[in-house]
Amino acid sequence: MRHLLSTRDLSRDEAIHILDVAEDMAETQTREVRKLPTLRGKTVVNLFFEDSTRTRISFEAAAKRLSADVINFSAKGSSVSKGESLKDTAQTLEEMGADAVVIRHGASGAPHTLAASGWIDAGIVNAGDGTHEHPTQALLDAFTMRRRIHGSASRGRGLDGITVAIVGDILHSRVARSNVWLLSALGARTVFVGPPTLIPLDLTGWPAETSYDLDATLTTHPDVVMMLRIQTERMNDAFFPSPHEYARRWGLDDERLARLGPDTIVMHPGPMNRGLEISSRAADSAQSTVREQVANGVSARMAVLYLLLSGERED
Ligand code: CP
Repeated sequence: MRHLLSTRDLSRDEAIHILDVAEDMAETQTREVRKLPTLRGKTVVNLFFEDSTRTRISFEAAAKRLSADVINFSAKGSSVSKGESLKDTAQTLEEMGADAVVIRHGASGAPHTLAASGWIDAGIVNAGDGTHEHPTQALLDAFTMRRRIHGSASRGRGLDGITVAIVGDILHSRVARSNVWLLSALGARTVFVGPPTLIPLDLTGWPAETSYDLDATLTTHPDVVMMLRIQTERMNDAFFPSPHEYARRWGLDDERLARLGPDTIVMHPGPMNRGLEISSRAADSAQSTVREQVANGVSARMAVLYLLLSGERED
């Protein structure tokens, strides 16, 4: 793998291969000594222009568990505030030895720009770009679903025949966009659910159905209900309905949780707005995979860094 920019680029076989390598990585994390020597001598740069807790820390943990050196760069407090460009920032970091650059940026397409530019030779991993994509989130989500559904028989399998309801602020969600392509490649059906103001009007070509009625969708017993964060920081006056109305009609509250089938998986990529899109009882229930998703994120990101930095690279 040369770069990981989008799940749209992944074939079914490639996606299953990454998930299988993540299984191998997860197994190593149950050992007494969790550190592998695999990426000794390599340097991973976390280049974050937007805030992050889970993604940045789990990429750091993943790189360190593979024995890579890690440089963490946050735009806040850097020379970006003096006007330094993405090109100059990336080239500065490459001169410090970066073999891979994990980039989160507020502009959709920034990782693609870096990968296509020829400014640097490092492998690029998209850790979330604007409202566009967040491919490692989708990989860890698929890994989590596969483990819950297929258990120890997960290896080599996709998510054929399952239905995933992705609920909430689809409009601003890079998680929804990366999930829909990966779920389609793995054989799953996706239904986007939310208010009309928070679902893109034109979904031509997207492998997803649309529903504006969460209660009607829940009567169809989806295998997975993935709640999304309401991204108020990306909204101006576009957020309609009110938070109270939103929670009442599209939130996974205690009453809706009680109506889910016992095997329905409740997911959220985090960070959560408890009481808005998801109740505390739903977030902390036995059906919730919120904490598993975080743990699985380290294994999924170990797999991506391993595939990017070990062995032969495609050019
Ligand atoms: N899910 C996710 O991307 O979380 P962070 O913004 O904390 O990285």
